[in-house]
Amino acid sequence: MKPRELKKDIYCVGAIDWDRRLFDSLIPLPDGTSYNSYLIKGGEKTALIDTVDPPMKEVLFRNLEQLNISSIDYVIFNHAEPDHSGSIREVLEKYPEAKAVCTPMCKGMLMDRFMIPEGRFKTVADKETLSLGGRTLEFIYAPWVHWPETMLTYLREEKILFPCDFFGSHLAATDMYVTDEGQVYEAAKRYYAEIMMPFRLQIQKNLEKIKDYKIDVIAPSHGPMHAKPEFIIKAYRSWVYDEPGNIVVLPFISMHGSTRRMVAHLVEGLSRRGVTVKQFDLAVTDIGKLAMALVDAATIVVGAPTVHAGPHPNIIYAAFLANALRPKVKFASIIGSYGWGGKTVEMIAAAIPNLKVEIIPPVLCKGFPKEADLQALDNLADAIARKHKDAGLI
Ligand code: FEO
Repeated sequence: MKPRELKKDIYCVGAIDWDRRLFDSLIPLPDGTSYNSYLIKGGEKTALIDTVDPPMKEVLFRNLEQLNISSIDYVIFNHAEPDHSGSIREVLEKYPEAKAVCTPMCKGMLMDRFMIPEGRFKTVADKETLSLGGRTLEFIYAPWVHWPETMLTYLREEKILFPCDFFGSHLAATDMYVTDEGQVYEAAKRYYAEIMMPFRLQIQKNLEKIKDYKIDVIAPSHGPMHAKPEFIIKAYRSWVYDEPGNIVVLPFISMHGSTRRMVAHLVEGLSRRGVTVKQFDLAVTDIGKLAMALVDAATIVVGAPTVHAGPHPNIIYAAFLANALRPKVKFASIIGSYGWGGKTVEMIAAAIPNLKVEIIPPVLCKGFPKEADLQALDNLADAIARKHKDAGLI
């Protein structure tokens, strides 16, 4: 994509990555992504905000050449992760007069990762400003969106916030601004769920920190820009502040059908009791969908058959993931079948120490579920519905 003017002398110069399908060798990207980089020309100085993922660096350089940018004074690194900072060596080589502007912690990370000499950096303090001549950049420390070194950059005169990952979405799109709010809401929620959710309390502080800034445009470094900032700020506020919904998330694995039968019975029972269930077969599911479901869930029930002496390995993977994402679930339980014994419940419980949940007694059955097992699942459905009711969720 060629450079696009956002305002006079402010350009989007980043790259759209239509075909990328996995991030961090972990996170599915069903809709691709973009690495947004922004060029701002002031009366005296020129700044580049964030760079691009190294495989797309030629797009960035081509865009800068098309704009006849022969000199850059400041390259702002809001975040040290390589999808935004990975082109640092080439950018600083091409523009030898440029200073890399970032937090002191970000400087350390960039030196560690990219071996940049210390003399190329200019570190900034929280709320420090930098004049470009008629245009002023203000740097706002905002740790944990999504690493501890992150900051936001605010262009005062135009009231544009450049928050890097914060408020972003993995979405490849030709539209410069959000046009389909439903699509962007889904992509932004997926992004929040996968990388921001563990830092919910820090995000609350960051939202408080920016609430008195007048913001006309949010220009993140992934996905389209927000000409209506209240849309994405409101979404974030609901994700980090709201109580969970009357929702059970039920990730499961079934090898021979017994656990699947238990899952079907429990899902039916919960539904009849007015509880929404989101069921995920871990053999085929998109883990991003599971992460998104966890944003609003009050309860997680894991459906786990016993393999040898413990849970199926896919279950431990999902439990580890849920533990790392720290969703605001309040209750948890386990269902599943076994052949002769094992420590399935103990091993799953040990995998989720970060989840501050009340455990509702599990239901395990030997072999295929019989009438008594199905009755135990009905009792579990009763217990979950009662917990949700007592918590004011129904
Ligand atoms: Fe888009 Fe945390 O990097």
